[in-house]
Amino acid sequence: MTPPLAIAVARADAEAAARLEPYLTASERRACAAQRVAARRAQSACARVAAKWLRLELAAGRGAPLVALDAASLEAHPRAAYLACAVTGPCGRRPRFEDGAFALSLSHAGELAAAAVTTARAVGVDVERVEARAASFADEHFTPREREGLARGAAVGAPRAALETLLWSAKEALYKTGALALPARFSFRDIDVAFPPGGARLAQPSVRSFALGARGGQFFGRAVLTGAFALVAVVPVPPVAALG
Ligand SMILES: CC(C)(COP(=O)(O)OP(=O)(O)OC[C@H]1O[C@@H](n2cnc3c(N)ncnc32)[C@H](O)[C@@H]1OP(=O)(O)O)[C@@H](O)C(=O)NCCC(=O)NCCS
Repeated sequence: MTPPLAIAVARADAEAAARLEPYLTASERRACAAQRVAARRAQSACARVAAKWLRLELAAGRGAPLVALDAASLEAHPRAAYLACAVTGPCGRRPRFEDGAFALSLSHAGELAAAAVTTARAVGVDVERVEARAASFADEHFTPREREGLARGAAVGAPRAALETLLWSAKEALYKTGALALPARFSFRDIDVAFPPGGARLAQPSVRSFALGARGGQFFGRAVLTGAFALVAVVPVPPVAALG
């Protein structure tokens, strides 16, 4: 059975952050306000409210796989419920709900914030702008097998920027779960993400669910690709108990 994986994206600019501020606790507001960059303050605030909304939805027995959060959706829960489930940070570390319930992950890119929440033990989400990167980026971060997958995609006309961004987003999401057995000093070449056969079709705008193996662990995930953004969220899948 696939673990629940609920994902929300939300607008993340100063106006959205001001509207969402009442849903943050005083300590969340203080921590977000302490971020040096104004855009980052708005991103962190909006991502936190999105995570809290997802948690309340999961607790209510709902858990839409992917939602674009708007003001009307927030009203599904009383403001007090948002204030009762504070998220730690921002502090450059993996966020968690202060009461330890549920697992969450946050990401931001430009004026977009993303959150993922699960009842599983861990989750990772990453959202990235789709953009062309220098060839050195692939050399630095992608394994030979991944670079072959990208080359095969490019050979059949798949936009390289879209494939590269998806791949990068998948690595970031996997890393954020904290569920990978990584050496103390690692590079993203230590996380090998296999392209499925026909991987070039992944470059088309789409919403997909997938299973993925990385560093001996199994993950269930969802990927969203638009012309502008790639988003990947993953949860570790517990090993199946041996029969007999
Ligand atoms: C930490 C890291 C995952 C953040 O990703 P990013 O693409 O820069 O930024 P995103 O907007 O996607 O994510 C930011 C969120 O990640 C979360 N985060 C921070 N550190 C984290 C960690 N160690 N694990 C999981 N999540 C983390 C935070 O919630 C943060 O949001 P917040 O500041 O509002 O709380 C990224 O900087 C990273 O990859 N760090 C180190 C990995 C590494 O050493 N790679 C080696 C090759 S480059």
